[in-house]
Amino acid sequence: MPDRHSYEPRHGHGLPHDPFNAIVGPRPIGWISTRAADGTLNLAPYSFFNAFNYTPPLIGFASIGWKDTVRNIEQTGEFVWNLTTRPLAEAMNQSCAAVPPEVDEFQLAGVTPEASQIVAPPRVAESPVAFECRLTQLIRLQGADGNAVDTWLTLGEVVAVHIDRHLLVDGIYDTAAARPVMRGGGPADYFELDPAARFRMFRPR
Ligand SMILES: Cc1cc2nc3c(=O)[nH]c(=O)nc-3n(C[C@H](O)[C@H](O)[C@H](O)COP(=O)(O)O)c2cc1C
Repeated sequence: MPDRHSYEPRHGHGLPHDPFNAIVGPRPIGWISTRAADGTLNLAPYSFFNAFNYTPPLIGFASIGWKDTVRNIEQTGEFVWNLTTRPLAEAMNQSCAAVPPEVDEFQLAGVTPEASQIVAPPRVAESPVAFECRLTQLIRLQGADGNAVDTWLTLGEVVAVHIDRHLLVDGIYDTAAARPVMRGGGPADYFELDPAARFRMFRPR
């Protein structure tokens, strides 16, 4: 049998760092822009993020604590997801600073708000891909014991998609060409997607 480190998370991991989000990784980053009810712009990264459905297209992220992003989405019902690319990694990181709600995180991160087509929150102009979204469900998570935790799964339908045309090669979206950045574990690990990392495997018939 292999030598294994096994643990029950409720009793601690017994390691220098919790390996949980290093194992479930790298994760795509939900770089979410919102507009508060008073018009203040907000931008923040969420790596507990993914896509969940094709038709309608649904995406979601988990806010650990009731943060400005989820509050804005609850109040306005709208948000925009922006793709984090390698050239935008530092700006994305800047936008996670814990600042008061009245601070415009587009300014803080040094990125430009560009008007969306359908929803009120702007997209990040420098990002090559954006999804305009409408809130579909805001779910408070709970543990296996049924006790609610202060984490809020925020799901939205993608109602408009914007893709920089250079990422469409003969009409096919080129995932690696966008140089997406993903979150690993620990305090600082990120991964950039390299085109050489791709391999193809078709489903059995
Ligand atoms: C790469 C990255 C991923 C993050 N992922 C999450 C996450 O999944 N959930 C969360 O609650 N906070 C996450 N954070 C922290 C939030 O971005 C941070 O708390 C931010 O200040 C929230 O902004 P807001 O209050 O304007 O919504 C992440 C930060 C970084 C840099």
